[in-house]
Amino acid sequence: MKLILGQVLTFAGNPFHAPIDEVVCHEQRGAVAVEAGRIVEVGPADTLRRAHPQAEVTDYGAALISAGFIDTHVHYPQTAVIASWGKRLIDWLNTYTFPEETRFADPAHATEIAATYFDLVTANGTTTTVSYCTIHPDSVDAYFTEAARRGLRVLGGKTCMDRNAPDGLRDSAQSAYDDSKRLLEHWHGRGRASYVITPRFAPTSTPEQLSALGALWREHPECLMQTHISEQHEEIAWVADLFPRARDYLDVYEDFGLVGPGALMGHAIHLTERERARLKELDASLIHCPTSNTFIGSGLFDMEGLMAEGQRIGLATDTGGGSSFSMLRTMAAAYEVAHLRGASLHPAQLWWLATAGSARAIRMEDRIGTLAPGMEADLVVIDLASTPAIAQRAARAETLWEALFPTIMMGDDRAVRAVWANGEMLIG
Ligand code: GUN
Ligand code: ZN
Repeated sequence: MKLILGQVLTFAGNPFHAPIDEVVCHEQRGAVAVEAGRIVEVGPADTLRRAHPQAEVTDYGAALISAGFIDTHVHYPQTAVIASWGKRLIDWLNTYTFPEETRFADPAHATEIAATYFDLVTANGTTTTVSYCTIHPDSVDAYFTEAARRGLRVLGGKTCMDRNAPDGLRDSAQSAYDDSKRLLEHWHGRGRASYVITPRFAPTSTPEQLSALGALWREHPECLMQTHISEQHEEIAWVADLFPRARDYLDVYEDFGLVGPGALMGHAIHLTERERARLKELDASLIHCPTSNTFIGSGLFDMEGLMAEGQRIGLATDTGGGSSFSMLRTMAAAYEVAHLRGASLHPAQLWWLATAGSARAIRMEDRIGTLAPGMEADLVVIDLASTPAIAQRAARAETLWEALFPTIMMGDDRAVRAVWANGEMLIG
């Protein structure tokens, strides 16, 4: 058994729907006991040390131990084009994204970028990612292989596109179905991998392809499905042109059986009332990508309104449309975006979104996202005084939240003191 000591923070409920004090579990001097990749006990450090005198102890002092961050929407193949200047969504895809994704025809390139990607995200305290790969099956193999080397629980799938994409970056309805099915059968449930059925978005799939992937999802409801919806106005207008009979953007996906529990709908900014009601009714998840939505100029996600109506919401970087690999930076952006809409998100709500809330959005809250007996031992350890600017502000803090908020707003990979994945120290 291993005992990991520090200040422990986790959640027993949703701080958007219950008083914060009732759902936050905080142990100033706490311990997490880990055995065979799982958490077996969480409690005061003294109590756990007495109960387990033989345990191997790692003491992080005043640093904060949390469930590892969960990034619910990324494009690992865009790692090398993150922070590309100056384009709106469709131009940005054509100018930067598609040319880079074309390079993933080379499996060596896929492996190199996947390794770089996981080095970057783990350095930022992220232990679970949900990624779009490229149309190339090898890009999926590279992603899951590199994650397994690090012991990470990850999700992802082959991106499917059979129109409005350049040569070398299109599959077909049939090959998308066949390749996705084969990859799903190989990877889903292998170690800590989960396969996600991945039509990129309505503009890059023919009705035939959306229909084939809807059929695949019906055959494999144990998998999640991910796509994009209502990110930018130009995109929404394009979808209306391509699918003139659909009532709205969501209706396109509904038509092909691509909305339901386990659907991860990326961005979901400019939704109509009907779409919001249907997303809730069908229990899909909405994925908020705040650094991307500001970076590409997409718009302001309605966190307060969507939470109030009971939507299931996850948080994500959207690397490389997003401008950071850090979930701390992403929480900061979520705070700022909500503020621009007149809502102040509490630090507890931001931290919940990056951990337990995101686990719930990807329907893995029984395994990851909180620190409790039986949960998988994926942890991040955060230094709450990682830079001079943060340290001098945190020194004035009188509460946990005052101590944490400067790190949320100004923290980066320097705040990540350690990372544990599957009960093993990955960065320490
Ligand atoms: N919509 C379709 N593909 C993408 C993508 O790669 N990034 C973002 N931000 N939006 C998309
Ligand atoms: Zn995306």
